[in-house]
Amino acid sequence: MSTTTASPLRPRVTTAPDGAGPGPGPAPWWASAVVYQVYPRSFADSDGDGVGDLRGITSRLDHLVDLGVDVVWLSPVYASPQDDNGYDISDYRAVDPTFGTLEDLEELTDALHARGMKLVMDLVVNHTSDEHPWFVESRTSPSSAKRDWYWWRGPREGMEGGAPGAEPTNWRSAFSGPAWSLDEASGEYYLHLFSRKQPDLNWENPDVRAAVHEMMRWWLDRGVDGFRMDVINMVSKDVAADGSLPDGRDADPRTGLAGGGEHYLCGPRIHEYLAEMHAEVFAGRPEALLTVGEMPGVTVADAQRFTDPASAEVDMVFQFEHVDLDHDGSKWHPVPLDLLALKASSGRWQAGLAERGWNSLYWNNHDQPRIVSRWGDDSPEHRAASARCLGTLLHLHRGTPYVYQGEEIGMANFPWASAEQLRDIESVNHLAEEVGHGGDPAEVLSRVAVSSRDNARTPVQWDASPSAGFTTGEPWIAVNPDHARGWTVADQADDPTSVLAHYRRLVALRHDWPVVALGDFTMLVPEHEQVYAFTRRLEGEGPDGAPAADELLVVANVGSSPVDLTDLLPEAVAGPGRDLELVLGTVPGDGGGDDADVAADPVLAPWEARVLRRG
Ligand code: GLC
Repeated sequence: MSTTTASPLRPRVTTAPDGAGPGPGPAPWWASAVVYQVYPRSFADSDGDGVGDLRGITSRLDHLVDLGVDVVWLSPVYASPQDDNGYDISDYRAVDPTFGTLEDLEELTDALHARGMKLVMDLVVNHTSDEHPWFVESRTSPSSAKRDWYWWRGPREGMEGGAPGAEPTNWRSAFSGPAWSLDEASGEYYLHLFSRKQPDLNWENPDVRAAVHEMMRWWLDRGVDGFRMDVINMVSKDVAADGSLPDGRDADPRTGLAGGGEHYLCGPRIHEYLAEMHAEVFAGRPEALLTVGEMPGVTVADAQRFTDPASAEVDMVFQFEHVDLDHDGSKWHPVPLDLLALKASSGRWQAGLAERGWNSLYWNNHDQPRIVSRWGDDSPEHRAASARCLGTLLHLHRGTPYVYQGEEIGMANFPWASAEQLRDIESVNHLAEEVGHGGDPAEVLSRVAVSSRDNARTPVQWDASPSAGFTTGEPWIAVNPDHARGWTVADQADDPTSVLAHYRRLVALRHDWPVVALGDFTMLVPEHEQVYAFTRRLEGEGPDGAPAADELLVVANVGSSPVDLTDLLPEAVAGPGRDLELVLGTVPGDGGGDDADVAADPVLAPWEARVLRRG
């Protein structure tokens, strides 16, 4: 099935302890690291209340050690009313009792460090909870010392507060309805790009930024190793000198609301804010840290600047271009993935961040439906193969791969059958809004079922017991029934052909093969509708010190029917005079064939992927 021996190639670039680079300079530690995301509510429950918690995570670290990942990104565990499952924070320096205590977090941090893993915390500072003391004080009166920490504005000129359309701008909240809510007491509105319980902080105010920086330093001083920065490219808004904010273009005639993103995505001061944050929080720290900014709407050109070491802003960004390809305008209108568009997009990102800056690589996170159901084939026949195939593609790109909990065992979307099963505020609000506008409940549900974030949030399937080993209590969200059919960690842990075993090999490959971490990237057959293929190449020196190079050829069949490579990519098929070695494959050799037979077979089975080394 595979030969994951380490490459003897020594790259010309070296790893710098201070994390400078990559690009022409030395490569940072995270170039060869794999990050694993834990969504604490759904990972493991230690106390039987049906909600995952910190002790649950600590009890399951062996799984992460087996997988071989280097970093854990922990979704928010801070004190929170849980309106958006913790992305609404009421105290940045406390742990929510749902998840445990600060001591539990310390124990988890120490346990990760003892196993050689790092801990990256979620940083949610575009907004707080409306129950955060800053907002509580801010809303007391227009003359409050914290009034200006948030975005307060009067009704639209000539209109009464509360009247339809009186909001200061026509911006839509990401969770349906207007992005402004009226505070009856003062007659002013406050801005919330997400739920009404998530008021946006006003980053124009230097005191807000200083308070954020101080809090970040506090966490670093406690031993955390970096931050994943929630919607961080939304913190700079397009505010005029007179304090007004502009309307968004292309308002929906039905609601009068517009996305408005052109006025707050990568706004005018975003680079200034991130450079300032870097200088105030990270510069000069000797530890090997990691920063990744979640940035909806970010372009390659933006990302080049954000992640160029010379800008000193963030190490990498989460871009959304690829996950926006399979819907039409809104995420609630899914369309089939156009593989050509995916290849064109990733090719552009690979090329754009080749010289300067760095890519993050992800298929899944707590906001995305499961990749095996989305771009794979989750029918019993092809599920494992397509999970292995998509994993191979992601992990063989240049960048830092992120594995979202459960992805490593091929977890799939949940078969949502009723609105009552859904928990996510985004899905619940969207359903209510659409049905309120006369949508057919069954039709709306069928679309929500495809795209809902709850698909990512069903509990991790540890074993085949009734709640999949997640909890001894009543789980807060339904457990996927397929845990009874082999889709668990326990079922896969010792099976060398499992999705889990394959993910272990992918992680190891990045550690052991400098070409996987650092090699350049060239897309092949960009116009082919079913084959995703590329090369990775790195020059360095061999064990004898002489110049040498590694070149990998990655070929994948992104479809449920076989593909013959004979005419399409003859160089990817081993044969006389062609020195091609199988480094990692997804399919065991048919009929007991060995790796050489696999490399020489011109036909890729459905969802087969091969990583080949050119001699
Ligand atoms: C980010 C998070 C998402 C959250 C939103 C508001 O997109 O990933 O889960 O709802 O920001 O904080």
